[in-house]
Amino acid sequence: MDDAKNHSESPPSTRGAVSPGPGPLSGTTALVTGASRGIGEAVARELARLGARVGVTARTEAPLRALADEIGGWALPGDLADPTGAGVREVLGAFRDRAGGDPDILVTSAGVFTIASVEDTPGGDLEANWALNVRASFLCVQGVLPGMRARGSGTIVQVGSVSGRKAFPGNAAYSASKFGVRGFHEVLLEELRGSGVRATLLEPAATDTPIWDPMDPDNDPHLPPRAAMLRPEEVAEAVSFVVTRPAGVQIPFLPIERS
Ligand SMILES: NC(=O)c1ccc[n+]([C@@H]2O[C@H](COP(=O)([O-])OP(=O)(O)OC[C@H]3O[C@@H](n4cnc5c(N)ncnc54)[C@H](OP(=O)(O)O)[C@@H]3O)[C@@H](O)[C@H]2O)c1
Repeated sequence: MDDAKNHSESPPSTRGAVSPGPGPLSGTTALVTGASRGIGEAVARELARLGARVGVTARTEAPLRALADEIGGWALPGDLADPTGAGVREVLGAFRDRAGGDPDILVTSAGVFTIASVEDTPGGDLEANWALNVRASFLCVQGVLPGMRARGSGTIVQVGSVSGRKAFPGNAAYSASKFGVRGFHEVLLEELRGSGVRATLLEPAATDTPIWDPMDPDNDPHLPPRAAMLRPEEVAEAVSFVVTRPAGVQIPFLPIERS
């Protein structure tokens, strides 16, 4: 973590907002993708509560700006799934403009979830899961690594899934993408050894967020009811644990499930 950064200047999007307060992450910056709702939104709030100055990104501007105002952070709207990678580069560039450098913490939570068997998966679903869950996360990690390596510190938290380790019928494209995320995360762990940069793959079970809205799980006996799911704040609390470990201590994998 780079404690030397000066975060006293209020960016335009946070005018009138409460700035991040003292806490274990005071003086650090974080970038959270998928922060307009769900797990990413809860993680952004939690990191700000711990004292980080947080850049939040997703495509939908209004909730991002409201969240940035609330937590004293930066709203950095963008589409991370575009095939050229330009969206990721623009968001990272906007973050650096605001923060004066790469984030101390990156949390990749932007994701899509489709349900269909291998036989029934439309090509568009395969592409959508690949584009956001794998490629965008990969490019975000790739984009922040040089800065973190140069500093000799940084924490990368990727939101994978229980579906990246365990097979569920009907999760064909999603599971392919989340196994893919775990694949490059495991390579990353090996490549980062001794660098001072640490990486964590969160593997949450079903979590009650808007990602489930199209499937209406409470009316589908094949899906877990919302009341039995994790809360996004509980996943965010796991991120809090990961990022507040002492320097040099890494949590490589963190499955989270309801007891
Ligand atoms: N909920 C669960 O049961 C569960 C369980 C395990 C793992 N996960 C994983 O947790 C992560 C977050 O899921 P969630 O449940 O919080 O989902 P969610 O509520 O649907 O939120 C998804 C986020 O991704 C953003 N996003 C979607 N498409 C994007 C794009 N093209 N470019 C940039 N941002 C985009 C969305 O914002 P915009 O639409 O505004 O862009 C939103 O902020 C995902 O990786 C998911 O796979 C979820």
